[in-house]
Amino acid sequence: MTTVAERQRTHTGSPTDRIDGPLKVTGTAMYAADAPVEHPLFAVLVQSTIARGRIRTIDESAARAVAGVVEVLTHRNAPRVTPTGFDFQRVFMEPKLPPLQGDEILYWGQNVAAVIATTLEAATGAAALLRIDYDELPPLTAITAETRARKEKVETFFGSPLNIERGDVDAALKTAPVTLDLCYTTPAETHNAMETAATVASWSGDELTVYDATQWVNGTQLTLAHFFDLDPEKVHVISPFIGGGFGSKGFVWAHTVIAAMAAKALGKTVKLVVDRAQFFSTNGHRSETEQRIRIAATPFGAITGLVHDVIDTNSFAGDFNEPAGKTTPMLYAIPNLRTSHHTVRLNIATPAPMRAPGESPGLFALESALDELAYAVNVDPLELRVRNHAEKDPSNHNAPFSSKHLLECYREGARRFGWEKRTPEPRSMRAGNEFVGYGMATATYPAMAGATEVHARTDGGGRVTIECATHDLGTGMYTIIAQVAADTLAIPLDAVTVKIGSSAYPKAPVAGGSQSTASVMPPLVDACEALKRLAGGNVADAPAGLEASGSGSGEVDEEKHSFHSFGAQFCEVRYDEDLARLRVARFTGVFDCGRILNPKTARSQMIGGIIMGLGMALLEDTVRDPRTGAIVANNLADYRVPVNADVPPIEIGFVDHPDVTFNALGVRGVGEIGITGVAAAVANAVYHASGRRVRDLPIVPERLM
Ligand code: MOS
Repeated sequence: MTTVAERQRTHTGSPTDRIDGPLKVTGTAMYAADAPVEHPLFAVLVQSTIARGRIRTIDESAARAVAGVVEVLTHRNAPRVTPTGFDFQRVFMEPKLPPLQGDEILYWGQNVAAVIATTLEAATGAAALLRIDYDELPPLTAITAETRARKEKVETFFGSPLNIERGDVDAALKTAPVTLDLCYTTPAETHNAMETAATVASWSGDELTVYDATQWVNGTQLTLAHFFDLDPEKVHVISPFIGGGFGSKGFVWAHTVIAAMAAKALGKTVKLVVDRAQFFSTNGHRSETEQRIRIAATPFGAITGLVHDVIDTNSFAGDFNEPAGKTTPMLYAIPNLRTSHHTVRLNIATPAPMRAPGESPGLFALESALDELAYAVNVDPLELRVRNHAEKDPSNHNAPFSSKHLLECYREGARRFGWEKRTPEPRSMRAGNEFVGYGMATATYPAMAGATEVHARTDGGGRVTIECATHDLGTGMYTIIAQVAADTLAIPLDAVTVKIGSSAYPKAPVAGGSQSTASVMPPLVDACEALKRLAGGNVADAPAGLEASGSGSGEVDEEKHSFHSFGAQFCEVRYDEDLARLRVARFTGVFDCGRILNPKTARSQMIGGIIMGLGMALLEDTVRDPRTGAIVANNLADYRVPVNADVPPIEIGFVDHPDVTFNALGVRGVGEIGITGVAAAVANAVYHASGRRVRDLPIVPERLM
């Protein structure tokens, strides 16, 4: 493969507009619920109103009496399925709760029935008339002394060991001249993508087709094949557009299986859309965490020891854990260190990955703790991070990083933000009757890639079609595929047709873990170069029907190098003490994410991540009633996310150093790093403005008074 520098780069690296933008703004982009099917039946989910117990009786008579109702699917009559578990090829998030197979209730909002009718209105009305009585047991709904006593150790995150120990951290804590012992908490958060979840399912003989709001058509395909004992080739999954996912649609949830069950039972196409309230329990959430951080340091601010102990919560149905200490061993040059992870099982819905699982809550705690250390030793918070900078990866036998430019991010971020204007003393900066606070934090997310194949073919007339089962969650994947293909093939951007989001195309990994760009681009370049050779170097004049493929393993030598992206986040807040009125005034993020293929879509990813981080810092909280386990904030009025009025000017910079050790194009990924460190940068700015150290998110006014 030739390097990018050798190729013509008309489009690569340019701020090209989204090629799918017109489809979106004209409402013609096809989301799952828009599937082009004739006269579907409509399925509406019914969810449990208790958090623990058993279904005693179901009275279907009133529901069935509604005109248009054709079926009420419950555990009594649903087709039997073969439950699948949590492995790397097919991930069903609730392996201990196969849908509609039994009467046990493990959490409030569990899917217990689907009412199917000829119209959505009939199904919705009848669902409200379904009468279910329960034998209820007292639910476990929160981390308490009682539930904490039954916590379980969590050993790994997707196969990687989570609990790290190096040096002698207990001795370091005993002897250090400066020590801190701090506890932080983060609440449960719900993804709340603009599009909720939806599945349109139909069977043709023993072939199943689903239009599904998923970030991973191949994973959904294999999971459904397992559930229904089908050859994977008989399952077709289509997901060309997703209205945001953030991890809620990475893996398979019950509603997708239920839609396929209903279509099978009725022999008809069934459309199932999860409504906003239901979405709070159908597609996961970010687990709440309790994090204790202990630090040993010199008076100079060099960290000699650090312990990061994490407790999260889990359901009885699944096993996803928030790995909040995952990057702690890597981020700073700390000789003595220990991380631990435990989980407390509760009668709550099942947690899931949510944009930077681990790093988001973990860096809130770690980067807040570093700010507290900066004040304890009277060192500038940015300078403290420079003093503890890890030139090599202490969590990987001091292996070199493939490409790390964090110091440049600090410098460039500080310059753009004007960090030097900060006076260190809390409450020392004012503007009118408001206090001004400056805070900063480090951002990081690992660079990953997975096995991917890309197909390219000439269509005649100078046109080329690219096919791959990857996704565009709103990220810009359609556009960067077209950019890189056009440059590699030396044809115009609009001569490239990009087809993604279907299991009919060559395989791709889950569009999660910020891995899609690094997974898709190398085999895309290979496929395009092979096609160009077939065309004798002239694709523009090639006949239709030439075909070429590229494939990549995504594998790298993780013994030899460590692969991570980095960044620096800077926040200014204004605080009116009389009213406990807090607002974020501006935000600057500078990132080292390898080569940036499209600075416009990449910037958009970072802005989105930072806005989501502002929500995490100040607003988001999936509130449960501790008595019943009911999610009481299950709407977008009570579950608060930032709106335009909450979002300040955000400045984004990329240092743009290609990581050619990671892949020949030098690309990493930009999906998740933007949110990391944001909540800490805000909390640190809040301390600087107000003198109040808030260690519990979200930072709502009552925590400042
Ligand atoms: Mo992301 S939480 O890996 O979709």
